[in-house]
Amino acid sequence: MTDIEELLLSRIRDVADYPEPGVMFKDITPLLADPAAFTALTDTLAGIAERTGATKVVGLEARGFILGAPVAVRAGLGFIPVRKAGKLPGATLSQAYDLEYGSAEIEVHAEDLSAEDRVLVVDDVLATGGTAEASIQLIRRAGAAVAGLAVLMELGFLGGRDRLAPALDGAPLEAMLRI
Ligand code: PRP
Ligand code: MG
Repeated sequence: MTDIEELLLSRIRDVADYPEPGVMFKDITPLLADPAAFTALTDTLAGIAERTGATKVVGLEARGFILGAPVAVRAGLGFIPVRKAGKLPGATLSQAYDLEYGSAEIEVHAEDLSAEDRVLVVDDVLATGGTAEASIQLIRRAGAAVAGLAVLMELGFLGGRDRLAPALDGAPLEAMLRI
């Protein structure tokens, strides 16, 4: 494990039985509160944005906003929020996806992406991959290309990487930590 990986891992707090019994919640607030760790994460993700030739950073509401916005600034790119349904005032593209119980919907302002764009998607956690998959579908429907998906943590036992392979279509999935 690299020094940066050790630093990041040490600043993620495991919270048992949250938000419901049997779930181990990965709390990133200690990492956000530590400027050395937050800067190291931001710099690493900005390096991925540069290496993949991204022209825009998409952050996934809510925790992907916190991580993605500074990455966009550091990489000199625009930031685009993918929001939960009903929050964006302009013309949107919407994508529904299944949750364990029920479904959810995310949206993006259609005018924010074009055929000239290569988009790096940033989020905190890759779990089942449903959220990331829907965001990739949105980006492609907007006519843009997917430069990659970068997450702080991949929960490998949930199989998100395999689920995302067809949607990513060869674009890289970079996880700082695999848990
Ligand atoms: C969490 C997490 C990821 C997503 C991963 O978001 O931040 O975005 O779930 O799960 P998946 O891979 O199974 O889709 P959530 O919407 O629960 O909370 P947030 O608004 O705090 O980001
Ligand atoms: Mg989230």
